Amino acid sequence: RPAAPVEPLADMGDAEDFTAREIDDQPAAAARLVDSLSERLAGGLLLRELGVPARTRLRLVACGSSSYAAHVTAAVLGSVARIPAHVVVASEPPPPVEDPDVLTVAFSQSGETADVLTALEHWTDPVLAVTNNPRSTLARRADSVLDLACGPERGVAATKSFTNQVLAGAALAVALAAALGRLSTEDVAGFEAQLRAAPEHMAATHRLAAPPADRLARDLADEPAFIYVSRGAGVPYALEGALKLKELAYRWVEALPAGELKHGPLALIQEGTPVIAVQARPHDRLAVNAREMTTRGARLITVGPGEDADLPVKAPAVEPPWGPLESVVALQHFARGLTRLLGYDVDRPRNLAKSVTVE
Ligand code: AGP
Repeated sequence: RPAAPVEPLADMGDAEDFTAREIDDQPAAAARLVDSLSERLAGGLLLRELGVPARTRLRLVACGSSSYAAHVTAAVLGSVARIPAHVVVASEPPPPVEDPDVLTVAFSQSGETADVLTALEHWTDPVLAVTNNPRSTLARRADSVLDLACGPERGVAATKSFTNQVLAGAALAVALAAALGRLSTEDVAGFEAQLRAAPEHMAATHRLAAPPADRLARDLADEPAFIYVSRGAGVPYALEGALKLKELAYRWVEALPAGELKHGPLALIQEGTPVIAVQARPHDRLAVNAREMTTRGARLITVGPGEDADLPVKAPAVEPPWGPLESVVALQHFARGLTRLLGYDVDRPRNLAKSVTVE
């Protein structure tokens, strides 16, 4: 039953809701962040300025959308710098055995998430806070702070803070690799160019995907449940896109790596089940999984480059180590479009708070 429409919040400008404005602001917020970071990637300058010790192992601590950005960062650390990094979901008990001498990186848009603040009490390693609030409790507790500088994010659902966390994490990984001598100057320049190109691909996807996303929302408005899949670098974006649909449109979503479907969740598929597949190269094995889904009646919806994609994105010619970041823009539009169709409050979803300050 749709919730009663809520009076629009003040100072929203001409946007229909804050979430729309913040989705729209993502490319500009990303460009501001990348401009502020990219000149300082080489030679460990960024680390020195942030006061971050160059460590060869990292612990990434976060919750919710921020944990998906942390997973992307872990993948970039591994692929770009061969630096082992593990993600600790802060709402869970800490791992019983930990590496010595790690750098802890806490991703938190608000900097006030109680689970993250509590988790940090388990360790004594140096802490870098990646946050949108440099005056937050987390920022005050950390040894160093990387400010996402997104500007205020008023919608409860993370949008531009998530995409900026991904880019900040990627820049940090490149800077660490450079400081540890694991990247040549040319490599750093190449990654810097890919970082600089990200906002334009997000902006192009914003323009490309919004209309088909709204059409798809109308098509699937009565579907009670969805499956979101991807492979490799696309998986965190499938998880984040699924979280948007859960928290905004209150739809049940099973989100998982595509290869895991056959190990059980495939039983969920029946005639017409919508399966949203985020394309991530080079894992074209998703095409194989498509057959195992469609032969069981699934309605496969692809998010990726190319005219035949149901939710088209503007992808770079060479996929960056952080994967199909632009795919999340298309999934944000889909989730928001369905939410508005259903008459729910896009900015203030039921049961949720912008900052979870309780454990
Ligand atoms: C994101 O849409 C959610 N609102 C939620 O998962 C959020 O990402 C999580 O609570 C972590 O918040 P933080 O980034 O402020 O720590």
